[in-house]
Amino acid sequence: RGAAVTARALALQPPAFGFLFDIDGVLVRGSQVIPAARDAFRALSDGDGQLRVPVVFLTNAGNCLRKAKAEELSHALGLQVSPEQVILSHSPLRLFSEFHHKCVLVAGQGPVEENARNLGFKHVVTIEALRKAFPLLDMVDQSRRPKELPPPTTDFPTIEGVILFGEPVRWETSLQLIIDVLLSNGNPGAELEDIPYPHLPVLACNMDLLWMAEAKMPRFGHGTFLLCLENIYKKVTGRELKYEALIGKPSTVTYRYAEYLIKQQAEKQGWKAPIRRLYAIGDNPMSDIYGANLYNSYLKSAQQNQVEAAVKRSPVAASAQTEDQPEQREDCNISME
Ligand code: G3P
Ligand code: MG
Repeated sequence: RGAAVTARALALQPPAFGFLFDIDGVLVRGSQVIPAARDAFRALSDGDGQLRVPVVFLTNAGNCLRKAKAEELSHALGLQVSPEQVILSHSPLRLFSEFHHKCVLVAGQGPVEENARNLGFKHVVTIEALRKAFPLLDMVDQSRRPKELPPPTTDFPTIEGVILFGEPVRWETSLQLIIDVLLSNGNPGAELEDIPYPHLPVLACNMDLLWMAEAKMPRFGHGTFLLCLENIYKKVTGRELKYEALIGKPSTVTYRYAEYLIKQQAEKQGWKAPIRRLYAIGDNPMSDIYGANLYNSYLKSAQQNQVEAAVKRSPVAASAQTEDQPEQREDCNISME
């Protein structure tokens, strides 16, 4: 009965806002749930454990499937979280369809290959597959040197792009092989010729230098791995490593994707009020807070551009409109908590 009353109340006054929750440092620390998180979600749910407002979980983690993160959160928070409510650092790569048909090298940990395929990438090469094909490349750890060399690989596909999902387990191996791929224009088994520049497209997810985890001091994140890669590339070639895209918080594309999922959720629930505000709750100033502020400036300038375009199209009509009330985009303001 309580749920029916809430549903009726929501139909009368549906939520005009949504929440973007960071995960590590806000809801959990490493594998430990932060107790207040459960209380917060109890307050956001009705008697049947259904959320009364649209919620997206926005994390820079990327070492698992969305489904696994949703299950982990369901267990931690005591409510049903669906994979569509979870944005991992690499989730917006689904939108980068121009790279989906290229042969890409993927680096990170966890189910990187499955993640890449789920995101739409058709031709995926892992660091492990590259190591196996060219065993002489990975030479830092002497104990991993092959005892006997297999016949040289001749039919390995040319790599056309590099996707960095998150920090790998063996940094030295990934750093070496990614640099090899960039210097050889995607053919690390070939003799080194002129170093190509611009280099192959590199798309990287999660630029967090540090993250909270469970230790007393923050731990190295993927941003630290990227810093190593950028510096090695610069020292070796004298040129800058440039990213085709940097996604995950604080990038605007990630917040835009979150807004899209929030609106989709509200629509699915039949909540009619337009979402006007997003509340973002996070712990990392360089990621969560900077990202929310960046998205607000992006929305403001998008609105500004829209008004300017209207002024160009129809000076008289648009000047009347700016003086009265500028046309509102259906975008949200974002508040950082
Ligand atoms: O590797 C994950 C970490 O960089 C950040 O996690 O949930 O605080 O975005 P989160
Ligand atoms: Mg965090």
